[in-house]
Amino acid sequence: MNTIGFILERHSDLCVVSDSPLLDTKILLCHVIECPQENLYMNQQYCLTSRQLLAFNELFRRRLSGEPIAYLTGYKGFWSLNLRVSKSTLIPRPETELLIEKALELPLLENAKVLDLGTGCGAIILALSRERPTWVCTGIEIQRDALRIAEANRASHHVKNVKFLHGDWYQPVLDQKYHLIVSNPPYVANGDKHLSNMNLRFEPRSALISGEDGMRDLTHIICKSPEYLLNGGWMLTEHGSEQGQKVRNLYESVGFLDVATFADLSGLDRVTLGCVP
Ligand SMILES: C[S@@+](CC[C@H](N)C(=O)[O-])C[C@H]1O[C@@H](n2cnc3c(N)ncnc32)[C@H](O)[C@@H]1O
Repeated sequence: MNTIGFILERHSDLCVVSDSPLLDTKILLCHVIECPQENLYMNQQYCLTSRQLLAFNELFRRRLSGEPIAYLTGYKGFWSLNLRVSKSTLIPRPETELLIEKALELPLLENAKVLDLGTGCGAIILALSRERPTWVCTGIEIQRDALRIAEANRASHHVKNVKFLHGDWYQPVLDQKYHLIVSNPPYVANGDKHLSNMNLRFEPRSALISGEDGMRDLTHIICKSPEYLLNGGWMLTEHGSEQGQKVRNLYESVGFLDVATFADLSGLDRVTLGCVP
């Protein structure tokens, strides 16, 4: 009843909440027994201790209720990093890696100053700082619990060139200017039908919702950005797949040049950038 082989057979129960029930079961099992996935099948006869079984059953129950795997294990892979997450942080999305790719393609100085607004668990700025250890990076976040997670991720990945600040968008850096500002702000409209989706139900509303049309934070961040960008500086924002045109209009309305939107791997508009003259 409590062998690895037997427990793996329970995976089909998760079909109702997951597209990858076997993988989810393996991840939870490995998390509980602290063993790499590749060793599971070799050890099918291993019996979980009663403590391990209790822990697994609890996680399996929570997964059955739709809770995302990342919140159950406390970790999510993003770019080259395994990042700690908690219920105070959004779970970093693979789509956001497009923002990293585009930022790394920009013609920036070796010692560029870079700002990440709404850093959450620190995914974007930690990925950038790992790729460009000579950049001077700052991440801002309004939720103190999320900021603590970002700081823990910075420390565990031994990142030296990032500092995290608490505050409301630009408020902690009023007298600063940057070569690059990046942001994946909340951009879901209040009342959007996707908010009742399994995964989103568990994530902080404050990381997702941005006013009645989803544009409140993007509008603020983009319209204020010229005050915080050096001449020739760049702004890069993630946004919803149907917000590309509105976001480009905002960039152009405040004088950005070379404004362009890029699609993610699903072919959906996801990231817009522009350069101030
Ligand atoms: C969509 S999440 C993105 C998190 C992370 N950057 C990522 O890509 O995984 C938006 C983040 O913005 C933060 N946020 C919301 N309003 C904010 C504000 N006024 N000032 C600073 N951060 C804010 C939220 O707490 C949340 O962590």
